[in-house]
Amino acid sequence: MSALKIGSLELDSPVVLAPMAGVTNIAFRTLCRDLELERAGSTSGLYVCEMVTARALVERHPVTMHMTTFGPTETPRSLQLYTVDPDTTYAAAKMIVDEDLADHIDMNFGCPVPKVTRKGGGSALPYKRRLFGQIVAAAVRATEGTNIPVTVKFRIGIDDEHHTHLDAGRIAAGEGAAAVALHARTAAQRYSGTAAWNEIARLKDHVTDVPVLGNGDIFDAEDAEKMMAQTGCDGVVVGRGCLGRPWLFAELSAALNGRDIPTPPTLGEVTVIMRRHATLLAAHHGEDKGMREIRKHIAWYLRGFPAGSEVRSGLARVSSLSEFDGLLGLLDPTVPFPADAEGPRGRQGSPSAVALPEGWLDDPDDTLVPAGADIMHSGG
Ligand SMILES: Cc1cc2nc3c(=O)[nH]c(=O)nc-3n(C[C@H](O)[C@H](O)[C@H](O)COP(=O)(O)O)c2cc1C
Repeated sequence: MSALKIGSLELDSPVVLAPMAGVTNIAFRTLCRDLELERAGSTSGLYVCEMVTARALVERHPVTMHMTTFGPTETPRSLQLYTVDPDTTYAAAKMIVDEDLADHIDMNFGCPVPKVTRKGGGSALPYKRRLFGQIVAAAVRATEGTNIPVTVKFRIGIDDEHHTHLDAGRIAAGEGAAAVALHARTAAQRYSGTAAWNEIARLKDHVTDVPVLGNGDIFDAEDAEKMMAQTGCDGVVVGRGCLGRPWLFAELSAALNGRDIPTPPTLGEVTVIMRRHATLLAAHHGEDKGMREIRKHIAWYLRGFPAGSEVRSGLARVSSLSEFDGLLGLLDPTVPFPADAEGPRGRQGSPSAVALPEGWLDDPDDTLVPAGADIMHSGG
């Protein structure tokens, strides 16, 4: 029985790991998938890779090619493209098809980073309805005749005066997207305040021909159940809630499939999971870079646990796996998962006006590809 069907992909649970730049690489996805299998008995959702830019993919930049690494048993392989023009989108999607790089393509129209929106990319782009439609159509055309569905992820709009999500959903579905996902904030909100789940419900009412996925502020299994019940969405996309909690997907799939939620790990079990994460990062990046990468996860993993400032700061500077082991060994393995580790985590930020190209809001139908917006360095 499939709980969520996205084109040819049949998922046993309606749960998606949100693409997160610098986080959802092969190491993190492998860990989440394995923990779902070990703790809930199966790997059932969709785990999306951190985004890559379509242009860098087409140009075969080595760092970008490395980012498209999937596990040997990873299925479906889900790749997210950040893209601002139809031609490069077509070329990138065609390359994915011809070289069998992935089983699913998602597209990122949610990035609120000023250096991206200032050039018309990310969450600024859906305002240009025709250009947005042409980009989605290009990816769909490149994947025609394959089993690779194209999905689209966007925000509510630029700000409260410029909502675009209903148009974006209708246009994407009309151009052949197999599902749409809404991060229920405007770009101006960044990650602040609370996600407007009522807008997910509105989108669900508006887009009736493909699944609508809801995203924003799911921090535990109960949140996921509430979002599905309140909005009628077909699936949930979970980002910050799994930072330092890669076992969250076991809890989500158990809850959404009506099974008992597994007990959260003790500090001893968390240290084993941290060690696995570090080992996977070292295998992907080499030990030096792997250790630099694990540092950003330390505060998330240890949130709420009594760890002591010396161990914490040692871990935040760790430079080898053996040093990592020594520091983890200083933690008390019997401590249960702390109640105050629940709730919001990850970036929050504060709202601010969205930087846009001059005259961007004048004509929603103009199809001029924003210049220089196809290069970016951070997610959104
Ligand atoms: C560190 C980080 C990196 C992100 N990178 C991406 C990205 O590459 N592509 C994307 O579409 N969204 C990206 N996002 C947005 C998330 O996918 C998600 O939409 C957002 O965090 C809201 O969901 P949440 O409340 O579950 O975190 C990123 C978010 C964070 C916190």
